[in-house]
Amino acid sequence: MGAYDESYHRSLADPEGFWLEAAAAISWIRPPTRALDSANAPLYRWFPDAALNTSYNALDRHIEAGHGERTALIYDSPVTGTGREYTYSELRDDVAVFAGALASLGVGKGDRVIVYMPMVPEAVIAMLACARLGAIHSVVFGGFAPKELAARIDDATPKVIVAASAGIEPARVVEYKPIIDAALELAQHQPDHTIVLQREGTLAKLGERDLDWAALTASAEPVDPVEVAATDPLYILYTSGTTGKPKGVVRDNGGHAVALAWSMRAVYDIGPGDVWWTASDVGWVVGHSYIVYAPLLVGATTVLYEGKPVGTPDAGAFWRVISEHGAKALFTAPTAIRAIKKIDPEAAEAAKYPRDSFRTLFLAGERLDPETYHWAHEHLGVPVVDHWWQTETGWPIAGNPRGLEPLPTKPGSATVPMPGWDVQILDPLGKQLRAHEEGAIAIKLPLPPGALPTLWGDDQRYIDNYLSRYDGYYLTGDGGYRDEDGYLFVMGRTDDVINVAGHRLSTGSMEAVLAAHPAVAECAVIGVYDPLKGQLPRGLVVLKAGVDIPEEVLREELVAAVRRDIGPVASFRDVSVVDGLPKTRSGKILRKTMRGIADGRDEAIPSTIEDPAVLDALRPILRRQEVEDQRPGD
Ligand code: COA
Ligand code: AMP
Repeated sequence: MGAYDESYHRSLADPEGFWLEAAAAISWIRPPTRALDSANAPLYRWFPDAALNTSYNALDRHIEAGHGERTALIYDSPVTGTGREYTYSELRDDVAVFAGALASLGVGKGDRVIVYMPMVPEAVIAMLACARLGAIHSVVFGGFAPKELAARIDDATPKVIVAASAGIEPARVVEYKPIIDAALELAQHQPDHTIVLQREGTLAKLGERDLDWAALTASAEPVDPVEVAATDPLYILYTSGTTGKPKGVVRDNGGHAVALAWSMRAVYDIGPGDVWWTASDVGWVVGHSYIVYAPLLVGATTVLYEGKPVGTPDAGAFWRVISEHGAKALFTAPTAIRAIKKIDPEAAEAAKYPRDSFRTLFLAGERLDPETYHWAHEHLGVPVVDHWWQTETGWPIAGNPRGLEPLPTKPGSATVPMPGWDVQILDPLGKQLRAHEEGAIAIKLPLPPGALPTLWGDDQRYIDNYLSRYDGYYLTGDGGYRDEDGYLFVMGRTDDVINVAGHRLSTGSMEAVLAAHPAVAECAVIGVYDPLKGQLPRGLVVLKAGVDIPEEVLREELVAAVRRDIGPVASFRDVSVVDGLPKTRSGKILRKTMRGIADGRDEAIPSTIEDPAVLDALRPILRRQEVEDQRPGD
């Protein structure tokens, strides 16, 4: 048996032993004597009798071990033309002071703090400062609109919001303060204060409840890490579900620290002193886990990159960062590689930057199409490792354990389940499927440490959404199959969640925006293939009888409405007016059938269809030649 097989089987046969052993990598205030608490199954908890502080584990303990001068964070910002390195001591000091600043505003254990910031070191500092106080952060991605921010404010009921004056997108400066003010107009809940980091050249106007980051921290006293229970929440991260209401994924302190430290070494082969770069955003789970927490928990150096893969300033931006900082590995989404490939198909820019340190390219966040896999493999000369996980799981469900035992890769496969994840492919009746049979990907309970214990304030919604479809299983929402070697192939969502440029979005919430337009009788939004972003949302609307509005005007209004209510991140630009939507006899819109047709799959038409002629009329609109022309051949 290889190291992977041994580890995997042990993790399922003896989870107590496996995870208690992994827990030894963490500094505890009160070490765990037991791992799993099943008393309230199917709501499980890990390390129920332990206590720790996550910020202490990410910072102080490395300093106490004599590594205070090691680089903790490299900020590289081509969009501002600036950069800065923080040693572990410097980062700890800034975190301790900002924690003091939050404490001076009355923020303490269990209080929520919303962080709405671009990719600046202060975002990391704010997160770790919350962790230091036992406060619960909820980072909201900058591309969301006020309404989405308001929904999160009302659900998390934060005491304080921490923000920056602006984020810098290649084509424009996004002023954050007006977005926050608009969100607070919409929200029921009102935080006591908003702390604003004033960025050079983009000063926000501060109101009565607003505080300036620099002024506040200038007078703040550093504070020490507080003790929290392993089961206390570290953060809430909202993610899209099938309905408009975002789901507040909760992460605990203890299980999270144990799982992330374990994964950083075993899955990504990163340890103390290694330079690691995750090109994502702190607003997504990938940013939480692998920009902020995991690299710092193991004493590595993390790169915080504020920019895009291309156009900042050219298609060589990623290779420059790897070369300049000596990164051992890069983790990003396939869409970023596709963006580079599109403007530099021969990877001429990559050749300009020596990458002696570079060992592995890790990709996740969406399906890695074989064409992108082959391109990266050929031009970068390192293993290209696809791996699969979700906001809910916090760390990879399936991957290639590079630090444990590198396994051969197969294009299109996320390789194998990681220890702790009992992955099964199930048919609609819950029967386990055999190799090559495609079905729902489900995970046998309990989920390992680091996975969500529940949804914020709503155990029942957690049970209803994830644990009720198959008794004893967590439903991932993805479909796929395993091959004869046990390799997992994740084929896509089985629900109405779509993935646009690695960003997870709900078609349901876009439909709610379209349906609110006075001209729209009914509508559907489906995710369709896009050669750059993987998927793009496509709106189909039926007009109310007697409405006379030019299609172009309606399109503009609907696009603007989605941008206003959900945000630019939705990349919603494509709407067609249609005569009717295909439905079952009970009135359910056949979104999956439309998606299949748009994606060029010959989906079986459900026998329950009400009127096949409606679908026939839609076919030429759904299958468009320009998309056909760009689709890869495999
Ligand atoms: N704040 C404000 N606006 C933002 C934003 C942020 N943090 N991030 C994105 N947006 C805006 C963009 O400016 C764009 O607005 P526009 O319609 O006015 O141009 C819109 O949201 C869509 O952004 P994006 O999907 O990023 O598209 P893009 O064309 O700007 O860039 C890629 C495309 C592929 C280069 C980019 O998505 C990328 O680098 N992806 C990397 C993958 C990634 O980080 N995934 C996260 C999970 S691993
Ligand atoms: P998020 O919660 O935003 O990280 O999105 C998670 C979803 O992205 C998963 O449920 C999948 O649908 C998709 N996803 C992530 N990684 C992969 C991958 N490697 N292959 C296929 N789909 C992926």
